[in-house]
Amino acid sequence: AATKKYQFNVEVKNVSRLCHAKPIVTVNGGFPGPTVYAREGDRVLINVTNHAQYNMSIHWHGLKQYANGWADGPAYITQCPIKTGSSYVYDFNITGQRGTLWWHAHILWLRATVYGAIVILPKQATPFPFPRPDGEQVIVFGEWWHADVEEVVKQGNALGLPPNMSDAHTINGKPGPLFLCSEKHTFVMEVEQGKRYLLRIVNAALNDELFFAIAGHNMTVVEIDAVYTKPFTTNALLIAPGQTTNVIVSTNRAPGRYFMAVRPFQDVPIPVDNKTATAILQYKNIPTTVMPLLPNLPQPNDTEFALTYNKKLRSLNTANFPANVPMKVDRSLFFTVGLGKSVCATCVNGTRLSASLNNITFVMPETGLLQAHYFNKKGVFTVDFPDKPPTAFNYTGAPITANLFTSKGTRLSKIAFNSTVELVIQDTNLLSVESHPFHLHGFNFFVVGTGVGNFDPATDPATYNLVDPPERNTIGVPTGGWAAIRFRADNPGVWFFHCHLELHTGWGLKTAFVVEDGPRKDQAVRPPPKDLPAC
Ligand code: C2O
Repeated sequence: AATKKYQFNVEVKNVSRLCHAKPIVTVNGGFPGPTVYAREGDRVLINVTNHAQYNMSIHWHGLKQYANGWADGPAYITQCPIKTGSSYVYDFNITGQRGTLWWHAHILWLRATVYGAIVILPKQATPFPFPRPDGEQVIVFGEWWHADVEEVVKQGNALGLPPNMSDAHTINGKPGPLFLCSEKHTFVMEVEQGKRYLLRIVNAALNDELFFAIAGHNMTVVEIDAVYTKPFTTNALLIAPGQTTNVIVSTNRAPGRYFMAVRPFQDVPIPVDNKTATAILQYKNIPTTVMPLLPNLPQPNDTEFALTYNKKLRSLNTANFPANVPMKVDRSLFFTVGLGKSVCATCVNGTRLSASLNNITFVMPETGLLQAHYFNKKGVFTVDFPDKPPTAFNYTGAPITANLFTSKGTRLSKIAFNSTVELVIQDTNLLSVESHPFHLHGFNFFVVGTGVGNFDPATDPATYNLVDPPERNTIGVPTGGWAAIRFRADNPGVWFFHCHLELHTGWGLKTAFVVEDGPRKDQAVRPPPKDLPAC
């Protein structure tokens, strides 16, 4: 195993998109930022130096950070932010993971421009469980706003309303020629005919689940969230913010130019966001004057496609890559997910939109929760997050407009070391139903079941897949439905659990788990690094 070192300079740069330039926060001036390459078993040291005017912190999304939450990154959860002019070294080992993950700013909405891919190669001489591709390409989806994103968010907050939607989606930072002035901001992937390419796809968008397709080419899904899957072939894929998907594409078509396209999935009667970002799959020696063809993407509200697609995802579950699904459950949790309101004197109508789990809107602390836990500092958080909602109701019936007001608190759940947890996440019709991509830090989990409507504890567990369910770190909970996940709490620390729609995270759709230390020394949270930022 090697030690890989990276220097990340957080710096402001002028970047031009959609006909005008604006200053954005970048890493090393890149948009997207650099790809981190490592091998399973490596130690990685990333020195982040903050030259921007904002506080910064960076999360290595999907890396488990065993007993080492200090390197996880979410601001005020596992660390205080890196202040302007300071540095912090994220120091971690990559154990038992290989595949595509990504990194992003985990403070304010700065991940709008501060993100990049992480490519973890398998150990030396360990092949992929699929034929070796001839080439590979990282493909990262994002969003772009004309205005300064932090200003857009501030304005929304002041009014208690959602901030303006983004003005473009992007592929590797580029919106593609369907947007104004974007001919030169088009990502081009050059390929040779008759080869197989591995695409490492990341959805770094802030607020959109996305459909993706390539004109004339099917894709074979081989991995999600850095876990191998049983391969299946599809003409389009669905990817929620936070998720990654590896696919193999065979360039077996007539040499030409083919659009790759990405557009939001919106599980509502009238989709409001119809923006399509495009990039070009360019066969060698084809003149750039040839017009590319657009692929057929599923309709923006194609729920059926979404449900069918997600059902196809299965863990590989072979001797080398077993799916170790917990069979018995020590701790059973049921969290409702919903929107809601809270009082706000200055806002339109005197209320602001909020979001809650079990009717609790999470209040961000002013110091790192992991520090508070490690040093036993009282008064920062409580561990009384309820295992289920205060009262049961018809979660997905007619829109619920009464009792919309949420309670507030920095309330966490305490989980015994090495216990097995089942968590059912139930969407609710508070104001409206919506799909929520939930991300758990510090773990992968198995998605043992999903369904539409209200979860029924009497009958739904019988439908669980406990053999080869997909294993991942982010799950799109179906609109007006539920998802059941299982994991073993073998990673001590404080682990954030939140909706990966930045809009909802900002409204409080989050909590954290405190996983207790185990009996052995290596099962306890390590001492914090000396350069850990202070609040
Ligand atoms: Cu990718 Cu807590 O996030």
